Amino acid sequence: MFQKRKAGERILPEHIAIIMDGNGRWAKKRHLPRSAGHAAGSKNFKEIARYCNKIGLHYLTVYAFSTENWKRPKEEVDSIMDILRDYLKDAKNFKDENIQVKFIGKIEVLPEDIVYLIHDAEENSRDATGLKLNIALNYGGRDEIVTAVRRIVAEGLRPDEIDEAAISARLYTAGQPDPDFIIRPSGEFRLSNFLIWQSAYAEFWYSDVLWPDFKPKHLEQAIDDYCHRNRRFGGV
Ligand code: FPP
Repeated sequence: MFQKRKAGERILPEHIAIIMDGNGRWAKKRHLPRSAGHAAGSKNFKEIARYCNKIGLHYLTVYAFSTENWKRPKEEVDSIMDILRDYLKDAKNFKDENIQVKFIGKIEVLPEDIVYLIHDAEENSRDATGLKLNIALNYGGRDEIVTAVRRIVAEGLRPDEIDEAAISARLYTAGQPDPDFIIRPSGEFRLSNFLIWQSAYAEFWYSDVLWPDFKPKHLEQAIDDYCHRNRRFGGV
Protein backbone atom coordinates (compact mmCIF):
# COMPACT_ATOMS: atom_id res chain seq x y z
CA MET A 1 0.00 0.00 0.00
CA PHE A 2 2.91 2.38 0.72
CA GLN A 3 3.46 4.53 -2.35
CA LYS A 4 7.13 4.83 -3.24
CA ARG A 5 7.98 8.04 -5.10
CA LYS A 6 10.28 8.01 -8.06
CA ALA A 7 12.74 10.92 -8.11
CA GLY A 8 10.96 14.10 -9.12
CA GLU A 9 7.60 12.40 -9.37
CA ARG A 10 4.59 13.53 -7.44
CA ILE A 11 2.01 10.94 -6.50
CA LEU A 12 -1.26 12.60 -5.69
CA PRO A 13 -3.40 11.22 -2.93
CA GLU A 14 -6.20 9.17 -4.45
CA HIS A 15 -8.85 10.80 -2.29
CA ILE A 16 -8.71 14.17 -0.52
CA ALA A 17 -11.38 15.20 1.98
CA ILE A 18 -11.81 18.79 3.13
CA ILE A 19 -13.63 20.27 6.13
CA MET A 20 -14.61 23.68 4.75
CA ASP A 21 -14.30 25.56 8.02
CA GLY A 22 -13.94 29.25 8.85
CA ASN A 23 -16.68 30.88 6.77
CA GLY A 24 -18.22 32.54 9.83
CA ARG A 25 -14.92 34.03 11.02
CA TRP A 26 -14.10 35.19 7.49
CA ALA A 27 -17.39 37.13 7.44
CA LYS A 28 -16.95 38.48 10.98
CA LYS A 29 -13.52 39.91 10.13
CA ARG A 30 -15.21 41.88 7.33
CA HIS A 31 -18.26 42.92 9.43
CA LEU A 32 -20.47 40.89 7.12
CA PRO A 33 -23.32 38.49 8.01
CA ARG A 34 -22.35 34.83 8.34
CA SER A 35 -24.33 34.09 5.17
CA ALA A 36 -21.77 36.17 3.23
CA GLY A 37 -19.05 33.90 4.62
CA HIS A 38 -20.90 30.82 3.37
CA ALA A 39 -21.40 32.44 -0.05
CA ALA A 40 -17.65 33.13 -0.23
CA GLY A 41 -17.00 29.56 0.98
CA SER A 42 -19.21 28.16 -1.76
CA LYS A 43 -17.42 30.22 -4.41
CA ASN A 44 -14.12 28.91 -3.13
CA PHE A 45 -15.41 25.35 -3.06
CA LYS A 46 -16.16 25.62 -6.80
CA GLU A 47 -12.65 26.96 -7.48
CA ILE A 48 -10.97 24.19 -5.48
CA ALA A 49 -13.12 21.45 -7.04
CA ARG A 50 -12.23 22.72 -10.52
CA TYR A 51 -8.57 22.82 -9.56
CA CYS A 52 -8.67 19.26 -8.21
CA ASN A 53 -10.24 18.15 -11.49
CA LYS A 54 -7.56 19.99 -13.45
CA ILE A 55 -4.66 18.31 -11.65
CA GLY A 56 -6.24 14.89 -12.13
CA LEU A 57 -7.29 14.09 -8.56
CA HIS A 58 -9.60 11.06 -8.54
CA TYR A 59 -11.80 11.73 -5.48
CA LEU A 60 -12.66 14.84 -3.47
CA THR A 61 -15.09 14.87 -0.55
CA VAL A 62 -16.18 18.15 1.03
CA TYR A 63 -18.13 18.68 4.25
CA ALA A 64 -20.93 21.11 3.39
CA PHE A 65 -23.45 20.56 6.20
CA SER A 66 -23.36 18.20 9.17
CA THR A 67 -26.19 16.52 11.07
CA GLU A 68 -25.19 18.87 13.94
CA ASN A 69 -25.40 22.07 11.85
CA TRP A 70 -29.22 22.17 12.29
CA LYS A 71 -28.46 23.65 15.75
CA ARG A 72 -27.44 26.93 14.06
CA PRO A 73 -29.88 29.85 13.83
CA LYS A 74 -32.62 29.22 11.25
CA GLU A 75 -31.53 32.23 9.23
CA GLU A 76 -28.03 30.77 8.80
CA VAL A 77 -29.32 27.28 7.93
CA ASP A 78 -31.69 28.82 5.38
CA SER A 79 -28.85 30.79 3.82
CA ILE A 80 -26.75 27.62 3.40
CA MET A 81 -29.73 25.82 1.82
CA ASP A 82 -30.22 28.75 -0.58
CA ILE A 83 -26.54 28.63 -1.57
CA LEU A 84 -26.97 24.93 -2.25
CA ARG A 85 -30.06 25.55 -4.35
CA ASP A 86 -28.14 28.03 -6.50
CA TYR A 87 -25.28 25.62 -6.89
CA LEU A 88 -27.58 22.76 -7.84
CA LYS A 89 -29.55 24.85 -10.33
CA ASP A 90 -26.25 25.48 -12.02
CA ALA A 91 -25.78 21.71 -12.20
CA LYS A 92 -25.34 21.63 -15.95
CA ASN A 93 -21.82 22.89 -15.21
CA PHE A 94 -20.89 19.55 -13.72
CA LYS A 95 -21.40 18.05 -17.16
CA ASP A 96 -19.31 20.69 -18.93
CA GLU A 97 -16.56 20.26 -16.37
CA ASN A 98 -16.65 16.47 -16.53
CA ILE A 99 -17.01 16.27 -12.71
CA GLN A 100 -19.16 13.45 -11.34
CA VAL A 101 -21.06 14.64 -8.30
CA LYS A 102 -22.55 12.54 -5.52
CA PHE A 103 -24.24 13.69 -2.33
CA ILE A 104 -23.55 11.73 0.83
CA GLY A 105 -25.64 12.02 3.99
CA LYS A 106 -29.31 11.82 5.00
CA ILE A 107 -30.55 13.50 1.85
CA GLU A 108 -34.14 12.26 1.88
CA VAL A 109 -35.13 14.44 4.88
CA LEU A 110 -33.97 17.68 3.21
CA PRO A 111 -36.49 20.10 1.62
CA GLU A 112 -38.20 18.38 -1.32
CA ASP A 113 -36.96 20.79 -3.98
CA ILE A 114 -33.35 20.24 -2.87
CA VAL A 115 -33.79 16.45 -2.97
CA TYR A 116 -35.13 16.79 -6.51
CA LEU A 117 -32.24 19.05 -7.60
CA ILE A 118 -29.72 16.65 -6.05
CA HIS A 119 -31.09 13.67 -7.99
CA ASP A 120 -31.02 15.78 -11.14
CA ALA A 121 -27.40 16.85 -10.57
CA GLU A 122 -26.28 13.29 -9.83
CA GLU A 123 -28.10 11.98 -12.89
CA ASN A 124 -26.72 14.72 -15.18
CA SER A 125 -23.13 14.06 -14.17
CA ARG A 126 -23.34 10.26 -14.00
CA ASP A 127 -21.22 9.66 -17.09
CA ALA A 128 -18.53 12.23 -16.26
CA THR A 129 -15.07 10.69 -16.28
CA GLY A 130 -13.14 13.37 -14.37
CA LEU A 131 -13.06 14.12 -10.65
CA LYS A 132 -15.50 12.21 -8.47
CA LEU A 133 -16.86 14.81 -6.08
CA ASN A 134 -18.73 13.82 -2.92
CA ILE A 135 -20.62 16.60 -1.18
CA ALA A 136 -21.41 15.66 2.42
CA LEU A 137 -24.77 17.17 3.25
CA ASN A 138 -26.77 16.48 6.38
CA TYR A 139 -23.90 14.11 6.99
CA GLY A 140 -22.68 12.61 10.25
CA GLY A 141 -20.09 9.83 10.50
CA ARG A 142 -21.76 8.09 13.45
CA ASP A 143 -25.13 8.36 11.77
CA GLU A 144 -23.61 6.79 8.64
CA ILE A 145 -22.34 3.81 10.66
CA VAL A 146 -25.69 3.40 12.44
CA THR A 147 -27.43 3.40 9.04
CA ALA A 148 -25.01 0.74 7.75
CA VAL A 149 -25.60 -1.46 10.82
CA ARG A 150 -29.37 -1.14 10.40
CA ARG A 151 -29.01 -2.29 6.80
CA ILE A 152 -26.93 -5.27 7.90
CA VAL A 153 -29.61 -6.26 10.40
CA ALA A 154 -32.42 -5.71 7.87
CA GLU A 155 -30.57 -7.88 5.35
CA GLY A 156 -30.29 -10.63 7.98
CA LEU A 157 -26.50 -11.12 7.83
CA ARG A 158 -25.09 -13.76 10.15
CA PRO A 159 -22.45 -12.61 12.71
CA ASP A 160 -19.69 -14.41 10.79
CA GLU A 161 -20.68 -12.51 7.62
CA ILE A 162 -20.07 -9.16 9.31
CA ASP A 163 -16.56 -7.86 8.74
CA GLU A 164 -14.98 -4.50 7.85
CA ALA A 165 -15.76 -5.01 4.17
CA ALA A 166 -19.44 -5.64 4.99
CA ILE A 167 -19.64 -2.33 6.85
CA SER A 168 -17.65 -0.36 4.23
CA ALA A 169 -19.95 -1.70 1.53
CA ARG A 170 -22.94 -0.16 3.30
CA LEU A 171 -21.53 3.31 3.87
CA TYR A 172 -22.38 6.23 1.59
CA THR A 173 -18.88 5.93 0.14
CA ALA A 174 -19.28 2.24 -0.80
CA GLY A 175 -17.00 1.28 -3.66
CA GLN A 176 -14.75 4.31 -3.23
CA PRO A 177 -11.22 4.36 -1.81
CA ASP A 178 -10.92 5.73 1.73
CA PRO A 179 -9.62 9.29 1.96
CA ASP A 180 -5.81 9.34 2.13
CA PHE A 181 -5.61 12.95 3.14
CA ILE A 182 -7.92 15.13 5.24
CA ILE A 183 -7.50 18.90 5.18
CA ARG A 184 -8.98 21.24 7.77
CA PRO A 185 -8.33 24.94 7.35
CA SER A 186 -9.16 27.64 9.91
CA GLY A 187 -7.02 26.49 12.82
CA GLU A 188 -9.25 23.78 14.28
CA PHE A 189 -7.89 20.32 15.09
CA ARG A 190 -11.03 18.22 15.09
CA LEU A 191 -12.61 15.64 12.81
CA SER A 192 -16.14 16.80 13.76
CA ASN A 193 -17.86 13.50 12.91
CA PHE A 194 -16.54 13.59 9.33
CA LEU A 195 -15.76 10.26 7.61
CA ILE A 196 -14.88 8.69 10.96
CA TRP A 197 -14.83 5.11 9.64
CA GLN A 198 -13.11 5.94 6.36
CA SER A 199 -10.36 8.10 7.89
CA ALA A 200 -8.80 5.28 9.97
CA TYR A 201 -5.45 5.62 8.14
CA ALA A 202 -5.81 9.09 6.65
CA GLU A 203 -3.08 11.68 6.94
CA PHE A 204 -4.19 15.03 8.39
CA TRP A 205 -3.23 18.55 7.42
CA TYR A 206 -4.23 21.71 9.24
CA SER A 207 -3.88 25.37 8.37
CA ASP A 208 -4.83 28.71 9.91
CA VAL A 209 -6.18 30.01 6.61
CA LEU A 210 -9.97 30.45 6.66
CA TRP A 211 -11.82 28.40 4.04
CA PRO A 212 -12.84 31.27 1.71
CA ASP A 213 -9.13 32.24 1.53
CA PHE A 214 -7.90 28.67 1.00
CA LYS A 215 -6.61 28.80 -2.57
CA PRO A 216 -5.00 26.29 -4.96
CA LYS A 217 -1.56 27.43 -3.70
CA HIS A 218 -2.51 26.25 -0.18
CA LEU A 219 -3.78 22.98 -1.57
CA GLU A 220 -0.49 22.57 -3.41
CA GLN A 221 1.42 23.13 -0.14
CA ALA A 222 -0.74 20.49 1.53
CA ILE A 223 -0.23 17.98 -1.30
CA ASP A 224 3.49 18.64 -1.22
CA ASP A 225 3.55 17.83 2.51
CA TYR A 226 1.51 14.69 1.87
CA CYS A 227 4.00 13.54 -0.76
CA HIS A 228 6.77 13.63 1.84
CA ARG A 229 4.96 11.56 4.43
CA ASN A 230 5.79 7.96 5.04
CA ARG A 231 2.55 6.01 5.31
CA ARG A 232 3.01 2.72 7.12
CA PHE A 233 -0.60 1.56 7.72
CA GLY A 234 0.42 -0.04 11.03
CA GLY A 235 3.54 -1.64 9.58
CA VAL A 236 7.13 -0.56 10.10
C1 FPP B 1 -18.14 25.85 8.47
O1 FPP B 1 -17.73 27.17 8.75
C2 FPP B 1 -18.94 25.84 7.27
C3 FPP B 1 -20.20 25.35 7.17
C4 FPP B 1 -20.92 24.75 8.32
C5 FPP B 1 -20.94 25.44 5.92
C6 FPP B 1 -20.10 25.19 4.73
C7 FPP B 1 -20.91 25.48 3.55
C8 FPP B 1 -20.44 25.98 2.41
C9 FPP B 1 -19.00 26.25 2.13
C10 FPP B 1 -21.37 26.18 1.29
C11 FPP B 1 -21.54 24.85 0.66
C12 FPP B 1 -22.00 24.99 -0.64
C13 FPP B 1 -21.89 24.06 -1.58
C14 FPP B 1 -22.38 24.43 -2.87
C15 FPP B 1 -21.28 22.73 -1.35
P1 FPP B 1 -18.28 27.88 10.05
O2 FPP B 1 -19.57 28.53 9.73
O3 FPP B 1 -18.35 26.88 11.16
O4 FPP B 1 -17.17 28.93 10.30
P2 FPP B 1 -16.70 29.49 11.72
O5 FPP B 1 -16.09 28.30 12.44
O6 FPP B 1 -15.67 30.51 11.35
O7 FPP B 1 -17.89 30.06 12.41
